Parts: sequence; structure tokens; C-alpha cells
Amino acid sequence: MPACSPTRNPFTAQETPAVGVAIEGLSKSFGPRLVLDNITLSVEPGEIFVLMGPSGSGKSVLLRHIVGLEAPSAGRVTINRQDATAETTREHVRMAIVFQAGALFNSLSVYDNLALYLREHRVTNEAGIREKVMRALQILSLEGAAEKFPSELSGGMKKRVAIARALVMEPQLMLYDEPTSELDPVMSATISEIIASLKNEYHVTTVVVSHDRDLALNIAERVGILMDGRLIFLGTPDQLRQPEDPQVANFLYPKIDLKNPRYKQLET
Ligand SMILES: Nc1ncnc2c1ncn2[C@@H]1O[C@H](COP(=O)(O)OP(=O)(O)OP(=O)(O)O)[C@@H](O)[C@H]1O
Ligand SMILES: [Mg+2]
Repeated sequence: MPACSPTRNPFTAQETPAVGVAIEGLSKSFGPRLVLDNITLSVEPGEIFVLMGPSGSGKSVLLRHIVGLEAPSAGRVTINRQDATAETTREHVRMAIVFQAGALFNSLSVYDNLALYLREHRVTNEAGIREKVMRALQILSLEGAAEKFPSELSGGMKKRVAIARALVMEPQLMLYDEPTSELDPVMSATISEIIASLKNEYHVTTVVVSHDRDLALNIAERVGILMDGRLIFLGTPDQLRQPEDPQVANFLYPKIDLKNPRYKQLET
């Protein structure tokens, strides 16, 4: 199936076209500090794009520009050729972001965390809401957690609840900020598989910000690497397995320099 062909949404059974993102010459400064420096890249409809980079390199800021929470200092971000910061774009394109810290409401049960958006937007009646919420929980293997509160959940479950909550919004564009941080390798692999299956089954255009090299190599169609606000790599996972640029190689496969005084005790 071509990437941009309509796809059937599991929640509404409506035909939903996949959306594309274009970032053109995007720069962002906070005061005197240049945080994003002339970034140009596109995310194709139905693609999984993984954005990597060291802490503080500007990944979350870039994600916030895509959902229109941040306005560029220069350049522009468009979603299906509409300005990402325009109110009308959010009316026309359903996008959901899974934030770095999950951002669940602690006073609400898992069920009510998921139902909140549907109730606020009067998407359907309570029976319809129940169906959508339970379907999302089932996709994330969380049926048993519906009546639990966030404080009763493990880190991995919270991450999955945050994904399920994004899913009930029936997004065409799904953005994840560090979905596998703080998780063990097995749970990280499970989350990676879930992200890939959502894209494969429903053709959700997906942007994942992550430090997780395995996630990038396993599920990305293309990868971008940010360093100090500049895009130093844009290519496929295969190209990343044998990086030519030493900066990229050092970031992905850091070598411990045993002559470095930090590692002195390892020498003996
Ligand atoms: N609202 C803001 N005001 C001022 N500076 C900001 C703001 N948001 C982000 N920054 C700065 O921009 C830089 C990039 O931040 P960002 O959160 O995008 O990093 P990141 O790549 O997501 O890092 P991490 O991997 O630790 O999450 C940081 O130096 C941060 O302090
Ligand atoms: Mg971040």
C-alpha cells in the first residue's frame, strides 16, 4: 500500500489520510542562546522518523515546534502544507504527543485519564467512550489496569498508559519523547514493537525522540541526529550501522578511552 493512501482507523472505522511534516530552515533562539540552527528535514506520510542526539541538543524543542507549542525564530514547520502554529492546523490534523515524563493526571484512574479527552471533546456517549478506552488499553496490554491510579503503576506501565491515552485521540501524527527511557531492555523492546505496530497497522506518521540506539536501528525508516542544535546526520538505519562521520560514530558507539583519568582505576 502506498504510504499516503487512506487507512482505516481502528477506533472510528473512518478513512484517515496519513500526514506529512516539513521543517524548512528552522532556527530557534531562547534569548541569546541558539538552540536549533537551520534545521531542514521532512517526515513522509506514514513514516517512522527517529530523532536522536545528546542531552540538551534540542530534540524536545524540535518536537514542540512540530506540534505548534513553540514558534520558530526563523524558518517554518508545516503539517500537510499548513503552518504548525496555526490554530486551524490542529483542527484539521489530529496529533498526539507522548511527553517525556508521561504527564498523566495522578488524581484520575487510568480509565479516566484515557476518557478525559473524549469527554472534553464530546466525541461520543459513555458507551462509545468505554469501547474506545478499552480498545486502546487492550492494544497496550493494559486491560487489568483500568481502575488503577498512576501512583500504583510501574514506570513501564505509565509509559504504556501515556501511549494508550495518545491513541484514543485517533492521531494521524503521533510524537513520542523518550518513550523507552528508564525502562529495562525487555520493556524497551516491547515499547519499540508497539510503536512499530501502530505505524504498520494504522499508518500513523510517527516521530520518536530517543537516545535508544536499538530502537532507532530496529524500527526507524530514517534517523536524524541533532548535536548542539545542528542536524549532523540524516539517513537510514543501515547507514547508521557503519557511520562515516566520526562525530556520529562517537555519539552512537562511544569508546571508553582508558587513558582518560576518569577511567584510571579500570587500568589496574
Ligand atoms: N523554554 C525554554 N527557555 C529557555 N531555554 C530552553 C527552553 N526550552 C529548552 N531550552 C534549552 O534548549 C536546549 C535544548 O533543550 P531540549 O529540551 O530540546 O533538549 P533535549 O535534546 O530534549 O535534551 P534531553 O535529552 O535531556 O531531553 C537546552 O539547553 C535547554 O535548556
Ligand atoms: Mg528532551
